[in-house]
Amino acid sequence: MGVLPNIVVSPPGPKARELLKRDELFVSPSYSRYYPLVVESASDCVVKDVDGNEYIDLNAGIACVNVGHNHPKVVSAIKSQCDRFLHYSNTDFYYEQVINLAEKLAEIVPGGSEKKTYFGNSGTEAIEAAIKLAKWHSRRQLFIAFINAFHGRTIGSLSFTASKPAQRRHFFPLMPGVVHVPYGYCYRCPFKMTYPDCDYWCISFIDEYILQKYAPPEDVAAIIFEPIQGEGGYVVPPPEYFQRLKKLAERNGILTIADEVQSGIGRTGKWFAIEHWGVEPDIVCSAKALASGLPISATTASSRIMDWPAGSHASTFGGNPVSCAAALAVIDVVKEENLLDNANKQGVYALKRLTKCGEDNPIIGDVRGKGLMIGVELVEDKENKKPAAEKAKAVIIRCWKRGVALVTCGKSTLRLAPPLTIQREMLDAALDIVEDVINEVAKES
Ligand SMILES: Cc1ncc(COP(=O)(O)O)c(C=O)c1O
Repeated sequence: MGVLPNIVVSPPGPKARELLKRDELFVSPSYSRYYPLVVESASDCVVKDVDGNEYIDLNAGIACVNVGHNHPKVVSAIKSQCDRFLHYSNTDFYYEQVINLAEKLAEIVPGGSEKKTYFGNSGTEAIEAAIKLAKWHSRRQLFIAFINAFHGRTIGSLSFTASKPAQRRHFFPLMPGVVHVPYGYCYRCPFKMTYPDCDYWCISFIDEYILQKYAPPEDVAAIIFEPIQGEGGYVVPPPEYFQRLKKLAERNGILTIADEVQSGIGRTGKWFAIEHWGVEPDIVCSAKALASGLPISATTASSRIMDWPAGSHASTFGGNPVSCAAALAVIDVVKEENLLDNANKQGVYALKRLTKCGEDNPIIGDVRGKGLMIGVELVEDKENKKPAAEKAKAVIIRCWKRGVALVTCGKSTLRLAPPLTIQREMLDAALDIVEDVINEVAKES
């Protein structure tokens, strides 16, 4: 590997363009691609396109390959499971890989009690399972969710998703009984208040205006939240936010569901992002990074809560043995290579660098994040905070053309989520380009 990134032909090159034509003819237009990166291969923090360009990957396959692309230990676990058997439906029979993974998840998911895990195939399935489990266990029908949240796109999880109109347009009616409330998004406080003077009004609001006036607490099954909103803009709530939310839920016998699909498996420098607030949710959903990109999801709850009977929920492929083998290897690699420490170390460094860059740059409105889940929110100007969506788009496309792959989230936030294996030299090479491009775009306005 030479000097990275390595752009040999301006992307999209001829091979990519050929594939894009065929994609347009045969693949669903519902996918919202950011730019035409056509991947040929990937290794650790580097992605190579079909025309031979090599990019530093700040996407990690959208927060999926936390241990780096094609980690040899993960690939070897997958290969050796493939030689044994590919499938035998955990819904109807037993195999060890599922039991081993459930045991490991019981160790790493926050909370001291005994835990059980339901396995699905995708983030949205983890949420569907959590919704059904909460209904089953509580015998209640209402839910509280957050504006700006993303929980998936099947009809159940979509009923909770509220980050972009395009995700919901023409799909109504959705699941009834979901009440959306503002999230702790201090940079754009929906109540136009300022932290800490607000004294967490966004939590008191749920109590005073939702539970006391609108959604009787004894009918509310659960509150579902992302500890750090992902698609909504890498939004990090203030320090006591989840303690207060949990207390409110407990006072009313309401379950808490943490959607850690994007923030889990070490992304934020802890196994699960909610640990930054020292809170134990009743149900934890994980997916994306769990099997390094192979399809799997986990809905983990204390054994007391996971009390549903045979036949109440299942999925043919959920807990596929190859995905389980990959997930077991992923958990080992995160431990063996101290990736939580590295995520913290590199994350603190990147946050500092980008914050410094923001001091002199007129379009960087906010820099936030934990570990290697970092958002840089771009604005038209720092006073009016108008989201600079077109500028954010221009930044990611120019970065891509210069060899750094990153995408946006929210309306105008740059989303930095490299593999947790990234080292300082490569991180610096990527940040040099990202900062240079932001400065260039800012000067043109
Ligand atoms: C927080 C969160 N929950 C749920 C999902 C849905 O996951 P999937 O696309 O695997 O269904 C996503 C996907 O981005 C997510 O970020």
